Amino acid sequence: MRSKSFTKKIKEANMNILNIYYSSTGNTKRVADIIAETADKERHPVETIRIKPGMAPDFDLLDYDLVFAGSGVYEWLPGKPVLSLFSKLAKHYRKLGNIEQPARRRRTKQAVVYCTYGGTHTGSNEAVPTVKYMGQLFDHLGFEIAGEWYVVGEFHGAYLDFSKKGKLGNITGRPNDSDLQSVAEMVKGTLQIKTA
Ligand SMILES: Cc1cc2nc3c(=O)[nH]c(=O)nc-3n(C[C@H](O)[C@H](O)[C@H](O)COP(=O)(O)O)c2cc1C
Repeated sequence: MRSKSFTKKIKEANMNILNIYYSSTGNTKRVADIIAETADKERHPVETIRIKPGMAPDFDLLDYDLVFAGSGVYEWLPGKPVLSLFSKLAKHYRKLGNIEQPARRRRTKQAVVYCTYGGTHTGSNEAVPTVKYMGQLFDHLGFEIAGEWYVVGEFHGAYLDFSKKGKLGNITGRPNDSDLQSVAEMVKGTLQIKTA
């Protein structure tokens, strides 16, 4: 007969992961790709969803043990498609009674919320509302917030110059290999967190 610790190890090895993100100019996609690749290498099943405008909440966050949720920062907040989707999700879970007063704790559910941001005016301060906003959906649902990550992401297109003269200095080319390597290490670290 299998020992309890063996069964627990198998369970941990099969953590169900959702990797959901919004990316308008590709930076957050690069981070999400590294998350998927790293979790996959560590042999956890990962489902990746790229948030699109007008998307319906046709998936269940509660099906997953660990959710990575990311967005670029646009005027201090996540992209509009994220705002719209998260609002629909909150409404849906409220209706089902999954958002309780006070919010229940689900000790085996974890979420990492992250953004990529340019920080050209006030540095990471202008990215904080994005990460806190996204975290609240998971907090309301009872997930433990296992991480809040801020990854620097260069500006593209018409805003190219913002990458060179802002509060964070020259951020051209970010997220770079070193940023992505740090993300991979943080993913590995998160996958080691024991839940009861
Ligand atoms: C229209 C626009 C608005 C932005 N607003 C902010 C902002 O308020 N604060 C910030 O830190 N970065 C801002 N950025 C920079 C983006 O957050 C950063 O480039 C991010 O990595 C973009 O993610 P994405 O490529 O996944 O869309 C802005 C970029 C654009 C194009």
